[in-house]
Amino acid sequence: MDNFYLQELINQTYSRGGGLLLNYEDKPAVVVLTVERYNEIINGQTFVRPQTDNLKIPMPQKNRKKFLVTGGAGYIGSHLVFELIKAGHEVTILDNLSTGRRENIQPQAVFVEGDLADENLLRDLFASNRFEAVFHMAASLEVGESVKEPQKYFENNVVNTIKLLKAMTEAGCKKLVFSSSAAVYGEPEVTPVTENSHLRPGNPYGSTKLLGERAIKYFCEYLGLQAVAFRYFNACGFNPAAKIIPTHQSHLIYNVMQVALGKQQCLEVLGNDYPTFDGTGVRDYVHVSDIVLPHILAVESMARDNSDSGNLNGSFEVINIGTGKGHSVLEVANSASEVLGKIIPMEVVPRRAGDPAILIADNQKLKAKLGYTLQFSDLENMVKTSWEGIKKH
Ligand SMILES: NC(=O)c1ccc[n+]([C@@H]2O[C@H](COP(=O)([O-])OP(=O)(O)OC[C@H]3O[C@@H](n4cnc5c(N)ncnc54)[C@H](O)[C@@H]3O)[C@@H](O)[C@H]2O)c1
Repeated sequence: MDNFYLQELINQTYSRGGGLLLNYEDKPAVVVLTVERYNEIINGQTFVRPQTDNLKIPMPQKNRKKFLVTGGAGYIGSHLVFELIKAGHEVTILDNLSTGRRENIQPQAVFVEGDLADENLLRDLFASNRFEAVFHMAASLEVGESVKEPQKYFENNVVNTIKLLKAMTEAGCKKLVFSSSAAVYGEPEVTPVTENSHLRPGNPYGSTKLLGERAIKYFCEYLGLQAVAFRYFNACGFNPAAKIIPTHQSHLIYNVMQVALGKQQCLEVLGNDYPTFDGTGVRDYVHVSDIVLPHILAVESMARDNSDSGNLNGSFEVINIGTGKGHSVLEVANSASEVLGKIIPMEVVPRRAGDPAILIADNQKLKAKLGYTLQFSDLENMVKTSWEGIKKH
C-alpha cells in the first residue's frame, strides 16, 4: 500500500470513526479496519487521489529511467544525481574520486568506484545495465593545471570520452548529455557568445572540451548517437538540500569565501587592466541548480524527439548555459562583502595567460529548445548558497 492510501485511510478513520487508530510519536500511524469498513471506504469512493505536489506519489514505473552519471561524486555531478533521484529515477555513478568526494554520493545511487580509462569496467557496466542515457561529467578541469600537464587533459577529457562513446555504441546506449565548457570560446570577438561564435580555446582544457564535442558529433552523425553538449559558464552556488561538499578550489567565488573565512589572507585579482568597466575580468556566473535542471529536460526532449515531437531536432545539439549577464571580479567581491558583512582584502597580480576580458553567454537557445528559464542565478543567491555550502566544510 503506498503512503497516499494509508494516509487517506487514517484520515477517513479519524474523521468518521469505524476503525482503530494507533499513534506513533503522537501522530496516527497505523489503522486497523474491519474488512467491511475497508470495503466501504474503497467501494464508496470516499476518496479520490488528488493531483497535488505535496503528497509523495511514487513515479509510475514507465516514467522511471535508469541513468549513468560519470563524475557523479563531483560538484555538478552530485547536484545532478540529487535532482534525478528526486525526480524518481535510478542512478548509477561512475567516479574515480580523483577530485570527487565519497560524501557527495547520494545514498540512493549505485556507486561504481572506477576510472573511465578502464575499458573492461565500461564494457561490464553497460552489459549489466540498460541505461536510458549517460550524463558524462567526469573530466579534469583546472585551467592552470592543463597548461602544465596537457597530456593528462587530453587523456582524461578526450581519450576517455572516446572510450565511453565506444562502450555506449557497442551496448546500444544511444543518448548522451556532455558537460562542455565556455572555455571552448577562448577570447571572443563579440560578446555575448552564441553557440555559433568562433571557437578558439585559449588553453589545453578548452581544447580538450572542444575535441570531446567533435568526437561526440561524429558518433552522432555516423553511429546513431543522440547527444546534447551543454557549454557551462561559471558554475557556482549550492543546493542546500543536497548537502554537497565543494570539490575544487580554483574558482573566484570559492576563493572569495576562503578569504571571508580567514583561511586565505587576501583575494588575488588576476589583472586590473582589462578593457572592462572596472578593469577586472567579467564572467557569467550561473547557479549549479540552473545547470543541472536543463539536463533532465534534455533527456526528456531526446526521448520525445524519437516520437517526432521533441525540440532537439538534430541528433547533436550544443547549448550554452549562462545567464547572459556578467559580473566583474570586483563586483563579486563587493557582493560577498555586503552579503556576508565581511571585508574582502584584495591584491592585484598579473593576468593569467589565455584568460579573456569578458565571457558572457547568449542563452536564447536554452530557452528556445528546452523552455528553461533560470531560477537561481542572481548574484546574491549564488553568494549566499556558496557561503552556506563552503563554510560548513
Ligand atoms: N565547474 C565549472 O564551473 C564548470 C564549467 C564548465 C564546464 N564544467 C564541466 O562540468 C563537469 C563537472 O565539473 P565539476 O565542477 O563538477 O568538477 P568536479 O571535479 O567536481 O567533478 C568531476 C568528477 O569527475 C571525476 N573524474 C574525473 N576523471 C575521472 C575518470 N577518469 N574516471 C572517473 N571519474 C573521473 C572526479 O573524481 C569528480 O568527481 C566537467 O566535465 C567540467 O569540465 C564545469
